[in-house]
Amino acid sequence: MTRLLAIETSCDETAAAVVADGRHILSNVVSTQIAIHAPYGGVVPELASRHHLENICPVIEEAMSGAGVEYRDLDGVAVTQGPGLVGSLLVGLEAAKAIAWVHGKPLIPVHHIAGHIEAPFLAHAEVPLPAVALIVSGGHTSLFEVAERGRYELLARTRDDAAGEAFDKVAKLLGLGYPGGPVIDRLSEGANDRAHEFAIAKPKDGSGDFSFSGIKTAVLYHVRRVGLEPAASPDAASPAIRDLVASFQRAVVAALVRRMREVALARRPKTLLLSGGVAANRVLRREAARAAEELGLALFMPPIALSTDNAAMIGAAGYVNMEKGLRGSLDLDANPHLPLG
Ligand code: KG4
Ligand code: ZN
Repeated sequence: MTRLLAIETSCDETAAAVVADGRHILSNVVSTQIAIHAPYGGVVPELASRHHLENICPVIEEAMSGAGVEYRDLDGVAVTQGPGLVGSLLVGLEAAKAIAWVHGKPLIPVHHIAGHIEAPFLAHAEVPLPAVALIVSGGHTSLFEVAERGRYELLARTRDDAAGEAFDKVAKLLGLGYPGGPVIDRLSEGANDRAHEFAIAKPKDGSGDFSFSGIKTAVLYHVRRVGLEPAASPDAASPAIRDLVASFQRAVVAALVRRMREVALARRPKTLLLSGGVAANRVLRREAARAAEELGLALFMPPIALSTDNAAMIGAAGYVNMEKGLRGSLDLDANPHLPLG
């Protein structure tokens, strides 16, 4: 059995996990900073790195004791090298290097998105491949073909905002707080999602990429035109705000699922994968399931705790990297723009 300690600090979650053979979660600890960043309507990088520094040792210790393993039992230390906020990444990376050095264990660098792609393999024993994976989070919105574990081809990405970023910005504009996705998801339930028609245009270059900055601007113009007042709190959101966010959500989900369907029809995979923070969205999960059924494909979505940022997914991807012989040296640097592959 290969046991990896995995560490993830790319954004605003301080996370550590112990994962066996890239599949079995022995522990999975996430310390979220949502309450710290909420008053600012988004992640403040300086605050994020400071809180990672405070939390990293207790989070790692909790993951180790929760798994019931000693450092000497580990076969390696996997860590997110990028992409993400550089000050945040560095905290996890330096902790991982220190543990690897002190205990003489291999250091295994992991790409954050590879973690999201590998997350479904933690929850499902048999995932037939090839798969088409939609990874949709606050920082990324991409479609990949997964030929085998660890081998990914980028098929589409966002040209501007990530889908989660659009949720967060629209929520901020309407006084709904941070993060925006969960609150928009909740307020949309029972609201009229056909109150407004927001079209998400396909890029004119025929690339099939995503673009979500246009819909964010369309919501902003609508708010200005009708003089819609932001809510004092999510629970005080007016019916007009609830109809607006429900219509926005419907348009974003439709754009995501439409492109996933097109790519699936072109690539003919055996499986669809859906992961990343926005994969927690109930309408997206429902529409993706509907599309999968129509296409006759299996759809694998990790449970929500493994869809949003966590370290178990880094342990899964770290195992794949380890099997490929990938090792990081002790002068490995964080890379906020790390390319995948
Ligand atoms: O994967 P994640 O935890 O962190 C990144 O790597 O970005 O994703 C966070 C994003 C945020 O933008 C948040 O608003 C969005 O995921 N999100 C949701 C939902 N839950 C979280 N978006 C839509 N609906 C949700 N239920
Ligand atoms: Zn993420």
